[in-house]
Amino acid sequence: MASGASAADPKVESFGKTKDGEAVEIYTIGNDSGFSARIMTRGATLVNLHVPDRDGKLVDVLLGFDDVSGYESEGNQYFGCTTGRVCNRIAKGKFSLDGKDYTLAINNEPNHLHGGVERSLDKVVWQAKSFSSDKGQSVRLTYTSPDGEEGYPGKLEITVGFFIPADRNSLSISYKATTDARTPINLTNHAYFNLGGEGSETVLNHRLRLNADNYTPTDDTLIPTGEIAKVEGTDLDFRGFKRIGARIKSVGETAAIGYDHNFVLNDREADAAMTLAAVLVEPESGRRMRVMTTEPGIQFYSGNFLEGQKGKGGKTYAHRSALCLETQHFPDSVNHASFPTTILNPGEEYSTKTIYAFSNAEADAAK
Ligand code: GLA
Repeated sequence: MASGASAADPKVESFGKTKDGEAVEIYTIGNDSGFSARIMTRGATLVNLHVPDRDGKLVDVLLGFDDVSGYESEGNQYFGCTTGRVCNRIAKGKFSLDGKDYTLAINNEPNHLHGGVERSLDKVVWQAKSFSSDKGQSVRLTYTSPDGEEGYPGKLEITVGFFIPADRNSLSISYKATTDARTPINLTNHAYFNLGGEGSETVLNHRLRLNADNYTPTDDTLIPTGEIAKVEGTDLDFRGFKRIGARIKSVGETAAIGYDHNFVLNDREADAAMTLAAVLVEPESGRRMRVMTTEPGIQFYSGNFLEGQKGKGGKTYAHRSALCLETQHFPDSVNHASFPTTILNPGEEYSTKTIYAFSNAEADAAK
């Protein structure tokens, strides 16, 4: 490694076994500042993310569990997983492609959610390999989803890479896939963040800014109507920093029971590779997270279904004690020709990237 870059090499350890007896491993990657991530092979899941506060104190900002059985339990609401083949909802679990009708599992009445039930990408065990150079450390996970798995057409070869550069506190996640038949695909990571540390009470005092003038209104089952509407004048206006709790009461009285909305990211500058989608600040610790992505949308979900389940170290995960910022294509795109397409064709490569970059809010403001 280059001078100064003395972070230990990526580490791999056993994380136990699935209920079917499959071995699960957990990889640790990081840099010299102590910023580090742990990723397990079940569900290509981000288990821990240690981030410094303004004084350099590290805490884990992600909700999760201490072992595989926690992740297999009812209390796991997609914590940190790679979500797919198609994340978010597909109306009534139905779509048609090239004249053929497909039926998927209904696991969020009356819709299909997050890729299905038994063999969605969050539940299968992936193959993994770690890498290290002067530039940083990474772990690359691969999974081949056979034709017809969870009702989706085509054999899909998927690679998800997690990378931490040596010189910055950021985690980059890149997704790649190829298929042998036309198929919808929409991958995201479902990390639950609390920048005060997992187990802290609520995220209502976090400040959020979203680079989105528009969102996709939905029906009462959270399926988009197809309309693209302005956030202006609504509780969804996060164009300037807003306290998450400021208007959550009235959003809580809607069918979404809190924030659970897809925001349409503003077009990026012509020469920019990625869009700055979101900035999240936790004022007590000074932790600040920027989310950059190649995706056109972001689902902001305010942990409305968290119900006091016991997580890492027996901590209680209360209602709205974390939030998700899921970069993705719009929900139910496969049934909306006007939305950016989620169809992958044989011979093409699906390739998207999201970066979570961390810094100190006050230091940034002083620059
Ligand atoms: C997504 C959905 C939410 C919920 C969570 C998981 O963010 O939009 O409605 O299903 O996943 O609990």
